[in-house]
Amino acid sequence: MSKKIFSGVQPSGNLHLGNYLGAIKNFVELQNEKNTECVYCIVDLHAITVKQDPKELRKNIKETLAAFIASGLNEKKSIIFNQSSVPAHSEGAWILSCVARMGWLNRMTQFKEKAGKDKEKASVGLYAYPVLMASDILLYDSTHVPVGNDQKQHLELCRDIAQRFNNDFEAPNFLKVPEPLIQKSFSRIMSLKDGTKKMSKSDPSDLSRINLTDDKDKIINKIKKAKTDTLPMPSSEENLENRPEVKNLLEIYSSLLNQSVEKSKIEFSGKNFSDFKEKLFNLLVEKIEPISREIKKLLDNEKYLDEILLKGSEKANEIASKKILEIKKIIGF
Ligand code: AMP
Ligand code: TRP
Repeated sequence: MSKKIFSGVQPSGNLHLGNYLGAIKNFVELQNEKNTECVYCIVDLHAITVKQDPKELRKNIKETLAAFIASGLNEKKSIIFNQSSVPAHSEGAWILSCVARMGWLNRMTQFKEKAGKDKEKASVGLYAYPVLMASDILLYDSTHVPVGNDQKQHLELCRDIAQRFNNDFEAPNFLKVPEPLIQKSFSRIMSLKDGTKKMSKSDPSDLSRINLTDDKDKIINKIKKAKTDTLPMPSSEENLENRPEVKNLLEIYSSLLNQSVEKSKIEFSGKNFSDFKEKLFNLLVEKIEPISREIKKLLDNEKYLDEILLKGSEKANEIASKKILEIKKIIGF
């Protein structure tokens, strides 16, 4: 049976190494698998759940698209589009928000983290965000959803919503219940400054992350300044739970090479940290700098980028508008 892949990335600027290793790199690998149809969405409706400057948002949509293409996504092989250009996503979100239960959403840890202390001031959209994500996924009969570990809970919610819809409306298997695809080699890429915090677009310190737009000098400088500890490089048996920064750097190195952390530990056991960091920044420069250069080139060709989104949206619309029509029939509209 063929696999149907769907995933989304928010156009909120500063796409970084965590987005690349946690998501985009897998998007590319899946795109190149046989019997696999891929849909990749720039989720601009999700981005506005927190305040956005319209000018910046417009720029970030283009930049996210450029990062997709520069990383190896191909608009001829995958459907690539932005969410707001396909109305079925919003319609589906409303309908599914009448299926999802408050109790389910109240459990979402990402809302608690993002809303912070003053939940009363968070937008209703931020709270309902996982329902929109479920709409994205379910409209395309997606079978697999590649995401970083932080999205696992949202995917479980999506599965619950699909099952509840199918039950409530006596439409067995109508909404397909998707499987998460979470790479196993690490759970998330952490900040270069603090191994207990995830690498994030919104961290005020640029030194905490490698951006996909960083040039060679920036990459080298950031790895040189990355936090480590005073102990030597770990031996192959050492458990790294208490050395989060070292664990993170080894995981970055290993996933860039598609090799196990065990193998990397053996490679550097007993060596100096500076040797390891040099290997790491050279590898990062080799893998990330071409992406960064390509992003800059693509951003100079706005017409080309606009065309990709336009064509992608047409294809997405064809699939999603059919599904939403069926949904409407089932619920009695
Ligand atoms: P976002 O930028 O929140 O839209 O995330 C886009 C994708 O990147 C999602 O699949 C996230 O799970 C993934 N992602 C974001 N930050 C990280 C991180 N630090 N480590 C691994 N994956 C991440
Ligand atoms: N919520 C996801 C994130 O912040 C982005 C997203 C939106 C998504 N819709 C999706 C991911 C559908 C996978 C499938 O990273």
